Amino acid sequence: MLNFEVMTLFPDLVRSGCQTSILGRAQNHGYIHVGVTDIRDYSGNRNGRVDDYPYGGGAGMVMQPGPVVRCFRDVKARCSGSLRVIYVTPQGQVFHQKMAEEFAKEDNLIFLCGHYEGVDERALEAIVTDYVSIGDYVLTGGELPAMVMIDAIARLVPGVLGNRESAEFESFHDNLLEYPQYTRPEDFEGRKVPEILLSGHHANIDRWRREQEIRRTLERRPDLMEQADLTEEDRRTLRRLKEEQ
Ligand code: ADE
Repeated sequence: MLNFEVMTLFPDLVRSGCQTSILGRAQNHGYIHVGVTDIRDYSGNRNGRVDDYPYGGGAGMVMQPGPVVRCFRDVKARCSGSLRVIYVTPQGQVFHQKMAEEFAKEDNLIFLCGHYEGVDERALEAIVTDYVSIGDYVLTGGELPAMVMIDAIARLVPGVLGNRESAEFESFHDNLLEYPQYTRPEDFEGRKVPEILLSGHHANIDRWRREQEIRRTLERRPDLMEQADLTEEDRRTLRRLKEEQ
């Protein structure tokens, strides 16, 4: 059981996003839990205000440290076992599959979603263990990045994916992209399913699929090729494909 806790000013967005599809089912079956806490409930004032002007001037508003830290203390009290506190920010390390695998081993992951121009630095110093970005672009808030990470991490938790959705054969297995998939009909508007997939010859099909993985990675993500886990036969295939290019 992995416990995700999200500290946010937009709890409905996070709740609805995590209740649907595989994440919803995983929660119902008790493989994960997603707790959502509204930072505004910790404002300490009647109008629920949690932001203020930046010291030193400048544009935008800053989330005050008090509500964030009070909220965190309450959330933390609900957690037992190992715990990481992730601040989602474009200033963080860029999220990737290996990071998802590491996070999936923890007992509790607390996500702090920022808004406005940011969060008072002292709150971050006090509570954050990891600064993580989902890519080099800027969004309006941390909710979507937190949900992206929760999705990527949750599917690695044992039980979350059924056999049919198994995480084993997929993109980034061996650091290669996945081979193309086909289902019925055999002929779609004149485009035919590759003959070999209809042959019933499993060894040939496996070899063909492996070649497709290497071909795809070479064409679409050549930057991944350097980290790919290739066998001797894979390397021969790669040399041949490069000569064809
Ligand atoms: N908040 C705003 N933009 C973000 C990004 N790219 N990654 C993580 N958090 C963010």
